[in-house]
Amino acid sequence: MKIAMFSTKSYDEVSFCKANEISGHRVTFLKPQLELETARLAQGFEAVCIFVNDILSRPVLEQLKDNGVRFIAIRASGYNNVDLQAARDLEFTVVRVPAYSPEAVAEHTMALILALNRKIHKAHQRVREGNFSLEGLLGFNLHEKTVGVIGTGRIGEAMIKILTGFGCKVIALDRRENPVCLASGAKYTSLDELLALSDIITLHCPLLAETKYIINEQNIAKMKTGVMLINTSRGGLIDTKAVIRGLKKGQVGYLGLDVYEEEGDLFFEDLSGTVISDDVFARLTTFPNVIITGHQAFFTDTALQTIAEVTLSNCTEFEKTGNCANAIK
Ligand code: NAI
Repeated sequence: MKIAMFSTKSYDEVSFCKANEISGHRVTFLKPQLELETARLAQGFEAVCIFVNDILSRPVLEQLKDNGVRFIAIRASGYNNVDLQAARDLEFTVVRVPAYSPEAVAEHTMALILALNRKIHKAHQRVREGNFSLEGLLGFNLHEKTVGVIGTGRIGEAMIKILTGFGCKVIALDRRENPVCLASGAKYTSLDELLALSDIITLHCPLLAETKYIINEQNIAKMKTGVMLINTSRGGLIDTKAVIRGLKKGQVGYLGLDVYEEEGDLFFEDLSGTVISDDVFARLTTFPNVIITGHQAFFTDTALQTIAEVTLSNCTEFEKTGNCANAIK
């Protein structure tokens, strides 16, 4: 299959070239994001392969259709960046990689919790400057703390295993109870109770109309004073301006983010020589109790290799059968 792969980085080329030794597709690596202005680059390709910040709105999909594209392979698990109704109307098959390494994301989530709690970011800087004072570095024991997990699918499940290993009490929220999470000791509860009882809240649900801004002004007010909030799922789950107000009041005591609602203009690029014009993001970076990583929770060697292998085998399956088990319905 002739595949135009957008938003590619050097590490994508490495993992996809390796996986393609078996699959044998004709993959063209393109650096630009897929958007209306760049959709013409897909001319003559049957498939496009996209990442999390390639936005496939209806006009982009129409342009792809005119270019002869009929297959969209998302090299990620989330698919909130694709207008699925438009894709259906235009008879595209859209596939994804449902699970490549939930542990990679869960481990990064735990890294954010530990770093925020024990102030590793500050301690690292201090020691490098010869400052060995412990003032301001006081942490808390995770043991016996209550952690609220919103979304107990693959990543939530891996997260709960890690948290119970640390001796945390886990309360959870999902539309359906996951028996593995129950067996790990998690107790399901309502959103209001989770907000009220949790010392730490971590988000692992997808971004849907119903979960957009699940963390908003109202819900922040229901949380414990000084709560730790972690989002490694999708930026749109959090109303960032409301969280900034919560941080300024001390209602939110710690914030760990791997995703940001306007990350499309920032993440995955080296912008160190430019001025950041997003004032909301810039304000976030001024807080001493906020750690932000640039959508790297998935970024392990195991995950990259699995993403490449599953994406290319999705293409092979569709090419051979006209169908794919990983198609989004
Ligand atoms: P999953 O589909 O296995 O689990 C999601 C869970 O959320 C499901 O159990 C679902 O029932 C639940 N859910 C749906 N609506 C809900 C609601 N209103 N309230 C509570 N729970 C709800 O997905 P998985 O693999 O665990 O991934 C979760 C999210 O993590 C993805 O949607 C994606 O946005 C994000 N992600 C982030 C990555 C990163 O690098 N930062 C990498 C991979 C995924």
